[in-house]
Amino acid sequence: MKRTKVLMVCLGNICRSPLAEGILKSKITHQNVEVDSAGTGAYHIGNSPDIRSIQVAKKNGIDITNQKARKIKASDLVEFDFIYAMDESNYRNIISLASNNAEKAKVFMIMNEVYPDKNVAVPDPYYGGDQGFNQVFQMLDTACDVIINKIK
Ligand code: 4NP
Repeated sequence: MKRTKVLMVCLGNICRSPLAEGILKSKITHQNVEVDSAGTGAYHIGNSPDIRSIQVAKKNGIDITNQKARKIKASDLVEFDFIYAMDESNYRNIISLASNNAEKAKVFMIMNEVYPDKNVAVPDPYYGGDQGFNQVFQMLDTACDVIINKIK
């Protein structure tokens, strides 16, 4: 069976993309899927996810405590099949690493899986409260349901 590699990308790789990674992994059943996450920024390299992401994941039965933040690199666009950006800033930064159109074609706004072509952002919850993390969780859960069904 073909292995499909999915990379979730946000800015810090401590709030949104660790949740996206954990949620998609939790939905893998028969699919041969590998999921990772990364940030476009370097501020949090090596750090664990934000405690608020850990808590909202835990509340929903998902453990993301073992993840460590890393920065996206150009070779990720070679290695991964689907690269999901949380917002348009992430999207532009990922695209800027691409060396050809085939690599660019792997990059998507994650909420476009639910609302095609709308470019809805998963809002950065870093400076907000717990409600923002709940909202991010629900949005990513909806998107990951679509993604896991696409991957055969
Ligand atoms: P994330 O959230 O991109 O969802 O991981 C952020 C985390 C940290 C910062 C920004 C966004 N920061 O500026 O440190």
